[in-house]
Amino acid sequence: MRKPWHHEGSPTGASVSVMPDAESLALAAAAAIAAEARRALRRSGRFTIALSGGSTPEPAYRLLAGPPFSDLVPWEATHIFFSDERCVNPDDPRSNEGMARRALLDRVPIPSGQVHPIHRPRDHRATSAVTDPGTRARADADAYEDLLRAPAAVAEGGRFDLVLLGLGADGHTASLFPGSEVLDERVRWVAAVSPPDASAEGADAADGVDAAGSRTAAGAASAGGTDKPPWRVTLTATSINLAGLVLFLVSGAAKAAAVKEVIQGSADPRRVPARLIRPAAGRLCWLVDEEAAGELDLADNPGLGPGSPTAVGQVPTSSTCDQGAE
Ligand code: 6PG
Repeated sequence: MRKPWHHEGSPTGASVSVMPDAESLALAAAAAIAAEARRALRRSGRFTIALSGGSTPEPAYRLLAGPPFSDLVPWEATHIFFSDERCVNPDDPRSNEGMARRALLDRVPIPSGQVHPIHRPRDHRATSAVTDPGTRARADADAYEDLLRAPAAVAEGGRFDLVLLGLGADGHTASLFPGSEVLDERVRWVAAVSPPDASAEGADAADGVDAAGSRTAAGAASAGGTDKPPWRVTLTATSINLAGLVLFLVSGAAKAAAVKEVIQGSADPRRVPARLIRPAAGRLCWLVDEEAAGELDLADNPGLGPGSPTAVGQVPTSSTCDQGAE
């Protein structure tokens, strides 16, 4: 198997690790998350993580739910948050919470009170009181903001130990879409985001429409084919940039141009929102597979690597995101 390529000090100050394939990417991600959990436990006695949605992190979540990783993470001291969410119930195929529960959270001994979903489904009476989806999304955003700002909040000062993120082919991350007002948010940590237009680049497969406006299987399955893309709630760049470690996971050739633009490009962050992510006092780490790295200029980095790729079942001794950690 080819060695992963690793590079410190990209133009964005990020550490970039290129893994040979999606399977190695998932293993490296699980190892990095477990390593960060143990580091946070030593530092503060607990571990706070904001999980990303999308399809890319799911294999890593499944790995974390089993040995050896499940034995490495201090679940009783772990507190789960979410980077963003669609305003749908957890049993909806578009729910990030639902995916994370099925792949990971329902399979590990984490106390239920330490999982903090963004979207709170209303009971029938509450639903009939507030029917406007935008109003409900803003209420979810306000409630999450209050949770994070509470005097005894577990993520002190809004600082998560780890924020996981994905990347869209249009350069979006979390629910920070090109051109969105939320990109200018400097005060709030959590914001509601109106649904992407079915014809806009930001509309993604998990919203039930693709970029050309055709309904996808996820959308059709969710509500008999009649649903509109849901409102979303997202951490803002202001919040994400407080984190101790921000870890992007990106897979596939469809993301290659976006990876190049975010890491080595110069585009306006309003057009490529992932360029807003620069932790003020934390580390920024990218784990990408070779296809997603296809357009990166790797010429100045002749095959440097942190070691052999981790094999399934082998406990990694270090993580690709360890560089610069306390
Ligand atoms: C979500 C996130 C989104 C996601 C990227 C990548 O879908 O919940 O809002 O930012 O992380 O679109 O998604 P994939 O991993 O599915 O490519």
